[in-house]
Parts: sequence; C-alpha cells; structure tokens
Amino acid sequence: MQKFIVKGGRRLRGELALQGSKNSALPIMAATLLCGGECRLNNCPRLTDIYSASRILNCVGCRCTFSENTAVVDSSVVNETVISEELMREMRSSIIFMGAMLGRTGECTVSVPGGCELGPRPIDMHLAAMRKMGVDIRESYGRIICRAPSGKAHGARISLAFPSVGATENIILCAVTAEGETVINNAAREPEIRDLCGFLRACGANIKGDGESKIIIKGAGKLHGCEYTIMADRIVGATYLSMTAASRGEIILTNACVPEMEPFLSVLEQTGCSVYTNENKIYLRSGARLKAVKDRIRTMPHPGFPTDAQAVLMAALTVSDGTSVFEENIFDCRYRHTDALVKMGADIQVLGKVAIIKGTPRLHGAAVEATDLRGGAAMVLAALAAEGTTEIDRISHIDRGYEKMEETVRKLGGDMQRG
Ligand code: UD1
Repeated sequence: MQKFIVKGGRRLRGELALQGSKNSALPIMAATLLCGGECRLNNCPRLTDIYSASRILNCVGCRCTFSENTAVVDSSVVNETVISEELMREMRSSIIFMGAMLGRTGECTVSVPGGCELGPRPIDMHLAAMRKMGVDIRESYGRIICRAPSGKAHGARISLAFPSVGATENIILCAVTAEGETVINNAAREPEIRDLCGFLRACGANIKGDGESKIIIKGAGKLHGCEYTIMADRIVGATYLSMTAASRGEIILTNACVPEMEPFLSVLEQTGCSVYTNENKIYLRSGARLKAVKDRIRTMPHPGFPTDAQAVLMAALTVSDGTSVFEENIFDCRYRHTDALVKMGADIQVLGKVAIIKGTPRLHGAAVEATDLRGGAAMVLAALAAEGTTEIDRISHIDRGYEKMEETVRKLGGDMQRG
C-alpha cells in the first residue's frame, strides 16, 4: 500500500489552478445516462472516484473515455440495468446512479451503500422519494430492485425531512425525464446541485429554483448531449487555503469558485489571514501564527460552513493561538481524524458532536493512517506544519478526492513524496 512521506516546516508559496469538483462531476456523469448521445465534460478531475463512475457507465453499455481533464460519455446505448455490488461498493455515492438509470430505462438494480467511514449512510429519503414518484422498490439481500411499472416514473411533490444532497440529486435525475411536474421542498442548496442542474438544462431539461429550497422540474420527453464545464472544487480550495495558512505562507488560487466558497472564507478570515478575492481568484497571506476562531464553527447545509471543510480547518487551528470549538451537525462519525492529530501533538477534546481545539505552538511528525478523504487531507496539512517527518498510510482515501496531492504540495514548496 502506498504512503505519503511529509517533511514539515516549509512555508507554502505559489499559484494554483483549482481542480474541477468531484462532487459535481459524479452526479453529472450519472446524468449523462439521460442524454442518449455524446456529452463532453471539461474540467473533470482525474480521481479514483471518477474512474469508478466511468466503470459504472461502461458496465451499463455507455462509452466513457478521458483525455486529460475532459471526459467524453456516449450514452447512445444502455443495455444493462443491473449494477454489480462490487461496482456499487467502490464508491458510496454510486447510489446517484439509481435516479439516472430510472430516468433512462425505468428500472435498475443497485445496492445499499451500507456504513462508511463517516458512519451509517442511510438512503431512506432517496427510496421514499422514488416510491412517491411511482417506482416499485424491493430490497432483497442488500440489493435494491427498482421498477417503474409503466416504464416511466411520474412527477410528485416531495418534502425532504433534511436537505440531503444525494437525495436531492437522485430526485432531480429521476424527474427530468419523468411524466409531469416534480416539486422538491427543503431541497439541498449546495453549489454542486446548481452545477448538476446547469448541465441538465444544457441538455434540454426544464428545472427552476436550484440553489433555493424549492426546486420545480417539468419532465421533458428526451434530453440531448452537450458540452459542459464542471465547476471548481470548493473543498479542495478550502484544503489548500488552510494548508497555506497553517504553514504561514502565501497562495493565489485561480479558477476558483469565489461566491460558493464564501461560507468557508468568512471563517478562515477570522484566523487573522489576509484574504482577497477577485472574480475567480483568491489570494491568501498568513505571515504570523494563526488566531483561534472565536465563534463556534457549526457545520450546516449550504450556505452554512461545509462539513467537508471541517477536518482541514481543524488541522490548521491545532497550531493557532487560543481555543476554537467545532460542532459537527451533518455526520455522526466525522471526528475520526482527531486521533492522528493528537498523536502529532495536537490538543483536541471530542465530546459528542463538539470538538474543542486548544492551539499548541508546534506539532511533531508521527506515523498515522488516513481515516477518510478529508480526514486524510487534514493529516497532510498537519504534517506540513509539524516539525520532523510524518508517514501517512492508507492514502487511497486521499486519492479519491485530490489530484496528485504530492505534486501540488511540491509545486507550492512543500516536501511531500509518495512512497
Ligand atoms: C454529499 C457529499 C459529501 C458531503 C455531504 C454533505 C457527494 C458525493 N458527497 O454526501 O461530500 O459531506 O453531501 O454536504 O456529493 N441522510 C439520511 N437519509 C438519507 C440521506 C441522507 O439520513 O436518505 C443523512 C446522512 O446520513 C447525513 C445527512 O443526511 O447525516 C447528510 O447527507 P447527504 O446530504 O445526503 O450527504 P451525501 O449526499 O451522502
């Protein structure tokens, strides 16, 4: 198994063009199933999760190929409706293929995603919504067998108990070619939902209200292929900004999604860094030791502070001056990275959904294991700010979401190798 070997203590400095968003690219790849033609997706990140999505597309009969950061999907042919358990297991978010397959063929067999590194990941809201849209769903030995009796789902009024990102995406994917109108109340407002809808509109879909709590979708008979550019990855942006801040460095992020990163940037500024934005650029300078964040950092659905940025900002605050407090409100098990940070000398106390971080002057290197994607990134960040060498194992978690992180860090002047 590969490791990252990181020698800490260097200031990061430089310019970085932000990669495309994984969490946009995945549902958009699923959405290409609805087009029945060729789609070109520009700014598509080259990541293991993206390759898993492409394997699912190929297994149902489509042709998905990559050329640098462009993915080309030809969905003229879909001749398989069963997605194997093995493919479904490769990636938690494979469940978004359910709505897209139902939209294209009126049936599919997928699997329960089960528990994952962030704790149980139920799909009750996804299933209840599909049932409301007229889909028969049978669960048998972990397989979910879905079929719209008339060959097509129909529109429905759906009120989500919580603005789930995945459930909102699945409903949209199922609704765009369904019979009639679908209204989603309490829909997720994450920027990636707007990106998915932007893509679907470019393919001929009729969607209004994305980015707000009420989304209205009028079923269109057929969609067509298109060329689309995937938005920048706001969480990867948050990671490299936090990393530079903790190293007391300086960075210009280009190709950034500035308004979408505002909930993160407004908290980051409280650490005393200078942050300037201009169209699609973010400049950050952090000359001195970071200050603790005074207000409790509560993860919330967008436009709240993103849960995906919790671990990386926490890692930066372990070397700040003072005490910061996080409250994780989205996932039950999202503090698994804290043990590794403590092993590196951080002072963190976890009490249920609250984590209290008392800043220490310095961290030290240690041997640690990535626990999940963003938790693993947090360990790299801490390692770069620490004295000595850190070895991070199980980096397949990190490769799921960051394009060649070691090369990016080296480009910014950090010492990080894949071993
Ligand atoms: C997506 C993102 C993930 C991010 C999360 C929250 C992708 C590929 N992943 O995950 O990076 O951290 O949004 O912003 O885009 N829930 C239920 N029942 C359901 C669905 C969800 O109880 O049917 C719960 C989940 O367990 C969790 C919460 O709702 O506690 C939020 O989950 P959700 O918004 O659905 O996250 P994902 O779409 O899985």
